[in-house]
Amino acid sequence: MEAFAKDLLKDKVILITGGGTGLGRAMASRFLQLGAKVAICGRREDVLEKAAEELSSADGSEVFPQRCDVRDPGQVHNCVDAVWRHFGRIDVLVNNAAGNFISPTERLSPNAVNAVLGIVLHGTFYMTLEVGKRWIEQRLPGTMLNIVTTYASTGSGYVVPSAAAKAGVLALTRSLAVEWAPHGIRQVAIAPGPFPTEGAWSRLSPTPELEAKMLGRVPLGRTGRPEELADLAAFLVSDAAGYINGEVVTIDGGEWLRGAGQFNDLAEVTEEQWDRLSELTRKGK
Ligand code: HXC
Ligand code: NAP
Repeated sequence: MEAFAKDLLKDKVILITGGGTGLGRAMASRFLQLGAKVAICGRREDVLEKAAEELSSADGSEVFPQRCDVRDPGQVHNCVDAVWRHFGRIDVLVNNAAGNFISPTERLSPNAVNAVLGIVLHGTFYMTLEVGKRWIEQRLPGTMLNIVTTYASTGSGYVVPSAAAKAGVLALTRSLAVEWAPHGIRQVAIAPGPFPTEGAWSRLSPTPELEAKMLGRVPLGRTGRPEELADLAAFLVSDAAGYINGEVVTIDGGEWLRGAGQFNDLAEVTEEQWDRLSELTRKGK
């Protein structure tokens, strides 16, 4: 099913951090199909080059790969500079690079905390500054899309550096939506639920038991498909979403609503048990 006009993103220059794998790569692929020019960055040059080659040959358009560790402001500057020179400008920045793993918080070392906060919060901030300053100086409009998570709003145990960092990114999104709107700069975010990418699953759902538990939490009974997130991203960065600013859109099959409700686990009660419970509760017996 084709959701969009083929030229929805025609000639938009889009830089995707972490665009060589997982959801970043799925977005790159969709943006290319819709006419965009795409640059991807990450730490692993071999991964980026392979992805760029495969994406380009699938679509016939050129993908520009740039090695960059978003934790280092110098590398962020050089990366944005190289993309800007290559394509002549940047229209959309997608802050998608992330680091995460499950761990009881009391087991974390300061280095572990720094690793996640450095990628997610500082990396997103450095990229946002580097691109935003150019847009403001050159009086160019632009759109920033930040990939957060549903627990950016609710918090979550066992992924606390990620939860704290993503909450910071959400605050950045909402704050700049107001401050930079007069410059024609729009901020949007996506909060995904579980999407089984290699990067996320190997660090967050490393056993069949944990995977089954994850699936069991989703009311729609399945994990997300990367193309579904990529379609949402394409809409949000397109001119069709020009009046959406500062919004975070959840794509999680209803997972967080279920997790948040105190009685959601009553999903396990059988019909027979409900018959009995209904008797018990009618007159507060
Ligand atoms: C405890 C850990 C750990 C673990 C690393 N550390 N993994 N501590 N449990 N599983 C500690 C190390 O011991 C070290 O501390 C510190 O963290 C840094 O580790 P390094 O391996 O040196 O760091 P680095 O090479 O920079 O790697 C960063 C990383 C790694 C975040 C640790 O996992 C990574 O590269 N991730 C990128 C991809 C990713 O995470 N994708 C998932 C995104 S999914 P010491 O003190 O020993 O030096 C997501 C949302 C999912 O974000 C939501 C699902 C519903
Ligand atoms: P992924 O494949 O592991 O993606 C993470 C990407 O970030 C990788 O390409 C990685 O490349 C890059 N990266 C990590 N550290 C970096 C650094 N310091 N500098 C530059 N790039 C760096 O995982 P994913 O599932 O696609 O995640 C993509 C986004 O979706 C993340 O923001 C994640 O938090 C979010 N999300 C995912 C899920 C899910 O279930 N999959 C759920 C909620 C939110 P290198 O290692 O080569 O640097």
